[in-house]
Amino acid sequence: MNQMVIRGVSSQTFIAANIRRTEEFYSKALGLPVVKRTVHHHDARLPIVTFAFQQFQGEVQRTESITYVEWNPVFYMMPEKGFIEQSETVDGVANPRVGDPRGRWGAGTNHHLALHVPNRNGLLKWKRRLTDLGVHVTGPYNRHYFHAIYLRDPDGAIIEIATTEPGFGHDESVLGSGFRPQPKENLIGGRDELQVAAETWPQPVPEVTVDFALRGFHHITSISSDAERTENFFVEKIGLRLIKKTDYLDEKGGTHFYYACDEDLSPGSVLTFFGLPGYKSGRLGTGLSHHFALEVENDAALVHEHARFKKLGIEVSSVQDAIYAKQFHFRDPDGHICALSTPNRFSVDEDANLLGRKLCLPNALEIERSSIERHIAHRPAPVPVLP
Ligand SMILES: [Fe+2]
Repeated sequence: MNQMVIRGVSSQTFIAANIRRTEEFYSKALGLPVVKRTVHHHDARLPIVTFAFQQFQGEVQRTESITYVEWNPVFYMMPEKGFIEQSETVDGVANPRVGDPRGRWGAGTNHHLALHVPNRNGLLKWKRRLTDLGVHVTGPYNRHYFHAIYLRDPDGAIIEIATTEPGFGHDESVLGSGFRPQPKENLIGGRDELQVAAETWPQPVPEVTVDFALRGFHHITSISSDAERTENFFVEKIGLRLIKKTDYLDEKGGTHFYYACDEDLSPGSVLTFFGLPGYKSGRLGTGLSHHFALEVENDAALVHEHARFKKLGIEVSSVQDAIYAKQFHFRDPDGHICALSTPNRFSVDEDANLLGRKLCLPNALEIERSSIERHIAHRPAPVPVLP
């Protein structure tokens, strides 16, 4: 087995119907800074905004990022199979798949992205703050290995906020050694939903303070129609470590398997799958993630993994220079698009202390800057999501 060449979850890329609305939500409600404004390097008509996490002295430096691509009003470049290759998508706009741009959950799509706060008081502060801003929040739920609340981004994508405590090690000494059934009070139908709904922070929380600011990714979760097949793929082929087999708490009969990318199980290294046998395939679109990227250390590791994946019979895209990272794509057994990526370097084309202030364009698109800027400036005004 490949031993932990992959060191964490690097980024997740979502599809938004209106990127200004998304930015308002992330900046004002969640307090995450923009670190890059650009356009899709295959099609300059698709604006992109990337958010990262604030850095705090004395804490591990977080490098994860959340990217949104505006993909409205029609789909572009969402192949049922294969990958987004420049040669295949250069004319994507001329051949749109017309119809409802909204995504639909199912096998082969993501389910949610979980962000991380240190403790349960932080969760309650987020619940109070977001609720006061008019954002619907559910939880806090006891997920046995952490506590969590749930909200939706303006397009309906589920965002979870989860605590580190108590962690994955408290119910077995060898992680992932066997199926760990969940206590009834954690499962849907067994928990006191009214009590959960009523619990919140007692005072208003107008500012995001250091004690509960979002620290990075906790885990990302996708949907598998065959948990065993997914396990085989991510453990035997990709080289991740299975750290927990347990119940899916919100739907009877489902499983929840957790995989870690690094040895110390640090937040941000965990990938999870709901095992929902017989679930129908989902469809990419707004309100869903397009793909997530796992990170390797450098270009050499990426090229090595590309060759190794090919040798294992995994279909891969070419290695692409996506300006801020090099990457290639592959699909999991349910068809979910995944990427392997080098670490993001957002300071390659702007000052590291002024990230996200200007529109950065690939060199080849600089000649079109004025028309690209005009296009972005004239995007439809967002429907306000915050008061
Ligand atoms: Fe989760």
